[in-house]
Amino acid sequence: MFKALLSLAIVGVSAISARAAALSPRVTGPAPLKFAGVNIAGFDFGCGTDGTCTVSGAYPPLTQYYGADGAGQMQHFVNDDGYNLFRLPVGWQYLTNGVVGGTLNSTNFDKYDALVQACLNTGAYCIIDIHNYARWNGEIIGQGGPTNAQFAALWSSLATQYKSQSHVMFGIMNEPHDLPSITTWAATVQAAVTAIRNAGATSQYILLPGDNWTSAATFVSGGSAAALATVTNPDGSTTNLIMDVHKYLDSDNSGTSNTCVTNNTVEAWEPLSVWLRANNRLAINTETGGGNTASCVEYLCQQVAYQKTIADVFLGYVGWAAGNFDTGYVLSETPTDNGGTWTDTETVSSCLAPIANA
Ligand SMILES: *[C@@H]1O[C@H](CO)[C@@H](O)[C@H](O)[C@H]1NC(C)=O
Ligand SMILES: *[C@@H]1O[C@H](CO)[C@@H](O)[C@H](O)[C@H]1NC(C)=O
Ligand SMILES: *[C@@H]1O[C@H](CO)[C@@H](O)[C@H](O)[C@H]1NC(C)=O
Repeated sequence: MFKALLSLAIVGVSAISARAAALSPRVTGPAPLKFAGVNIAGFDFGCGTDGTCTVSGAYPPLTQYYGADGAGQMQHFVNDDGYNLFRLPVGWQYLTNGVVGGTLNSTNFDKYDALVQACLNTGAYCIIDIHNYARWNGEIIGQGGPTNAQFAALWSSLATQYKSQSHVMFGIMNEPHDLPSITTWAATVQAAVTAIRNAGATSQYILLPGDNWTSAATFVSGGSAAALATVTNPDGSTTNLIMDVHKYLDSDNSGTSNTCVTNNTVEAWEPLSVWLRANNRLAINTETGGGNTASCVEYLCQQVAYQKTIADVFLGYVGWAAGNFDTGYVLSETPTDNGGTWTDTETVSSCLAPIANA
């Protein structure tokens, strides 16, 4: 009885202090992590894992374009849950209306920018995520597909748009996989980094993606860590060049099952943290998540608890996904809006929301 009362009291205090933090102008992540976020999906709909993103498949998660209320979701996540980061996936083809290269189509870009501005208006950080799996219509960038120059032109255009926004992060590429050469891929990433910095975005975070679907478990053993460690800013430094990794908790790390089997500590986070410390680098986990089930809640809570113990080299996590996913989607983190009162999914309310794990 005493124990039950005590834990109730502790929950009450931490919820109140986290809420106070959320209402202050500069939100902070779930201490000691710097960032906690959610993916706001929709502009990536129509993208296949071979980089075939159909322009017509993109579905803006904004009510003015007949999508979900992504702007309201983000405001809720910041105000009620203490989140401070959103990842905004989009297909390359959508931004350029199907033309390979860097010339943004203003009709399409303006719609994507409306989501970016809605994110920035919450005070959170916002990741521009090109959701193309290192490819354009089945061909790998810099390895038979678009040239590095064409890809760098895209990033130059985007960085020109956002160079004055300190809260924009540049997510170079979602989930490269099956790359013939990781060192050749690192040269592609280098071209993008150089383009972003030379466009005037000199200090923002840039997220560097490795092979194998950016698996955190094979980031070191698969050679991605060593290859990406060579990527630098134009001044030769690696300041704010952050290793980008994904990890799910189901048996095949695909994020498709509602049954979770691991907290990823032994196979992913612990070895990753050893490499990061030895090499004086930082990482962020821009996709993770699980079903709204007891096993996923259990392991996700354990994963966040462990991630906090490596906060010296680990910036935070971003759940997959809200935005235009409906609440029936297996990994849904989409909150339900009842007349301005938002209700979170179980993984968010139990583990992932900063007020749940403060
Ligand atoms: C931009 O894309 C729209 C489709 O969203 C298309 O109708 C328009 O012609 C494109 N503009 C240019 C300049 O290509
Ligand atoms: C990719 O990661 C999976 C585990 O998530 C592993 O089984 C597989 O061996 C990895 N492949 C490569 C090429 O590293
Ligand atoms: C994560 O799982 C491992 C076993 O694989 C276990 O030893 C560890 O205690 C778990 N971590 C947490 C924070 O519960």
